Amino acid sequence: MPSKPFIIVAIDGGAASGKSSTARALSERFHLLHSDTGSYYRALTAEMLRQGASAGDLESVKAALAKITLGTRVEGRSARIEICGRLPGEEIRSKEVNEAVSHFAAIPELRNSLLSYQRGQAETARDGGFAGLVMEGRDIGSVIFPDADFRFFLHADPAERERRRLRQGQVDRVAERDRLDSSRKTAPLSLTAGAISVDTTTLTIAEVADLMAALIEGKTPVP
Ligand code: CDP
Repeated sequence: MPSKPFIIVAIDGGAASGKSSTARALSERFHLLHSDTGSYYRALTAEMLRQGASAGDLESVKAALAKITLGTRVEGRSARIEICGRLPGEEIRSKEVNEAVSHFAAIPELRNSLLSYQRGQAETARDGGFAGLVMEGRDIGSVIFPDADFRFFLHADPAERERRRLRQGQVDRVAERDRLDSSRKTAPLSLTAGAISVDTTTLTIAEVADLMAALIEGKTPVP
């Protein structure tokens, strides 16, 4: 009997472009494991800060990384990262982490430490009986899963993105993070050839998810 198709959906985009909400919606609709790689970079950043490492001091980052083991805990449809057996808490959304994360995420050694971990999430999804994986981040369609079945790139007007963060009660300079994320040498945020670009500025989460779902189901042709 042929096994059911397993799909990989990559969603990239800038800060507060709507990735997490739509990834969650798609994971529910298609029974996909949801992997929020931004939360992995945030968790590593919180751990770096906890260990006193500085993004400007590569040796301190390497020493801190050497002390870390990574694991995954699947909770519902979400693949959460464990660092040395611990699930990170709300500190990963703090002002300190918002300010530091793009600096740590620009370090190739730190990105490398997450590379095979992120690719391994496809196996975790298969083992967990999911119909696929939806992974969101900045370099999913370009570096982690360039052969993903669907590669989306979300964007939105910067003023609208700042408003979204404020509504979530967060202080976050999204334009500054985008500038850093787009200009770094390793795996910069950019719209890669073949990705489906979606402007979410005036759309609700449900509208964005419907649009993406229709493409996944083949109800509308891929533009
Ligand atoms: O949710 P939001 O869009 O604010 O950001 P996030 O997805 O939580 O990601 C936080 C930060 O992690 C980004 O600003 C990037 O610096 C970094 N990141 C990355 O470099 N590569 C990824 N695949 C995901 C996140």
